[in-house]
Amino acid sequence: MSKPNISDTAFLVNYHRAKHERISLDVYSKYWVTKKSISLSKKLSKEVYKNDDIEICLRSRFFLENLRCFLARNPQAVVVNVEAGFTSYPYLLEPARFIEIDLPHITTYKANKIKMLVKKGKLPKRNVEFISTDLQNKKDLKILEQKLSGVILKEKSFFILEGITYYVEKKYLQQLLHIINNLQSSGCELAVEFWSPDIQGLPVFKRLVQYAKRHLNYEPRQWHLYDIGFFAGATGYEVVEFTSTGRLEKFMGRKCLLCDEHNNLLTKMAILRK
Ligand SMILES: C[S@@+](CC[C@H](N)C(=O)[O-])C[C@H]1O[C@@H](n2cnc3c(N)ncnc32)[C@H](O)[C@@H]1O
Repeated sequence: MSKPNISDTAFLVNYHRAKHERISLDVYSKYWVTKKSISLSKKLSKEVYKNDDIEICLRSRFFLENLRCFLARNPQAVVVNVEAGFTSYPYLLEPARFIEIDLPHITTYKANKIKMLVKKGKLPKRNVEFISTDLQNKKDLKILEQKLSGVILKEKSFFILEGITYYVEKKYLQQLLHIINNLQSSGCELAVEFWSPDIQGLPVFKRLVQYAKRHLNYEPRQWHLYDIGFFAGATGYEVVEFTSTGRLEKFMGRKCLLCDEHNNLLTKMAILRK
């Protein structure tokens, strides 16, 4: 049986950030747009729902603004983006140290292209390290813990889990949260995004599951939905912010495209503080 192409979603969501730069503020997303991402986006819009581009831009803006606030208070902090895809946070802000984790083919591709973009003057130079990890592999998670512990134990840190939790089985996600908890000290933060189980019954989610099967070879049983209690319980952290893309759209005073909760895939986002 061939493997799922879940990494294609990194190109897809990047294209959505590029479509509405004024919301995402991701002025570098245009460098990662591919023909395939445009084609996947068109199919998603036709077969599942129309507003994924707005959804992704609002989600990204949540992470960008919360990271901006954290770095203003902790300029020397280490930022760790777990399954970073083609996000541009280190180039949009100026963190002292940034670590990006993803599957090997994504980190290799990204690291090489970043070098070229910096050389051409299209991206500012930043202190970014790449770590290749399969989150659904216990050995890889152990190695990841060792690598990270050498870097961040003494520093304040901010971890990002964006666009990944629904692809990770509970036992691996628990192990990852346990690692993060061990690495972080008081005042450190973890930013998470997830779909909670209440979305399962919506026809729009069922259409997404079919779309993922058809175009990404991703099996329906591979979706993993969590609620905020899972993240708070696994870490013991305080939830200092909890919102959804729908609420963020209202907060930003934008035209209400996500108001209809039953025909959109509203994602939840939270900041947890140790
Ligand atoms: C939807 S993309 C999100 C990327 C980025 N966080 C964003 O919001 O643009 C999902 C990412 O998770 C990565 N990924 C999926 N399964 C993974 C696994 N088992 N181990 C490591 N990375 C994985 C993919 O390569 C991809 O970059």
